[in-house]
This record gives sequence, C-alpha cells and structure tokens, in this order.
Amino acid sequence: MSEVRTAFKIHLLPNNITFICHEGQTILDAALRAGIELPHGCTRGGCGVCKIRVKGKVDFGRVSRAMLTDQEKESGFCLSCRAVPLEDLEISLIDGASAKVIQHDEFYSFLFKTRTNL
Ligand code: FES
Repeated sequence: MSEVRTAFKIHLLPNNITFICHEGQTILDAALRAGIELPHGCTRGGCGVCKIRVKGKVDFGRVSRAMLTDQEKESGFCLSCRAVPLEDLEISLIDGASAKVIQHDEFYSFLFKTRTNL
C-alpha cells in the first residue's frame, strides 16, 4: 500500500535550509511563509521573475509559455509561483545566489511595523 503524502520537503541551495510545502501549495507560497524571500512579481505565471532551478517532480501549473518553455521545463526550471511539488525537491535561484532569509524578529517587526529606524 503506497503512502499518501500531505507535505513535501524543499531543500534550498546554497542556503542549505529545508522548509515544508503542503499538498497543493506552491513553492513560492511555502517559501514566503517560511521567511524565505524568493524573487517574484506577478504571482500568476506571467512575468517569469520567479523562475528557479528545481530537481524533482512538480506540477508546473498554468504558466505563460513565453516565460517558461517546454525546453526549460525539461532542463529543470519552473516558475515557483505556480509550481506545486509532487515529491521532495531541491531548488536554487537561477543565478546560484543565496536567497534572503528573514529572521523571525525582522519578519514580525515588518508585519506589525514595530521596528523604527532609530
Ligand atoms: S511571479 Fe510572475 S511568473 Fe511567477
């Protein structure tokens, strides 16, 4: 009997951190909720700003073919705002840089505007 997965692990390189993505959740949504600032723009599969490298199976979702070609899909790219994991993944930014990670105190002060510039 096969196991039904309700969440997947996503390992982000070169940051070397892992976060959880729930069933049906996009990679971008899971990353942002984990305090990881993946680049993004329209969040609707139309601008290509969120393109990342991915190792593992994903549902690519509805995306602009101009922003993610079939060849890019086969070469290990996806749009994180639309891609939903189908197994545990390894991802990285297309330029190989580290993604910015917001520390919890920074994150909450940003959310609630409690930080001052003093
Ligand atoms: S944010 Fe625009 S395509 Fe993903």
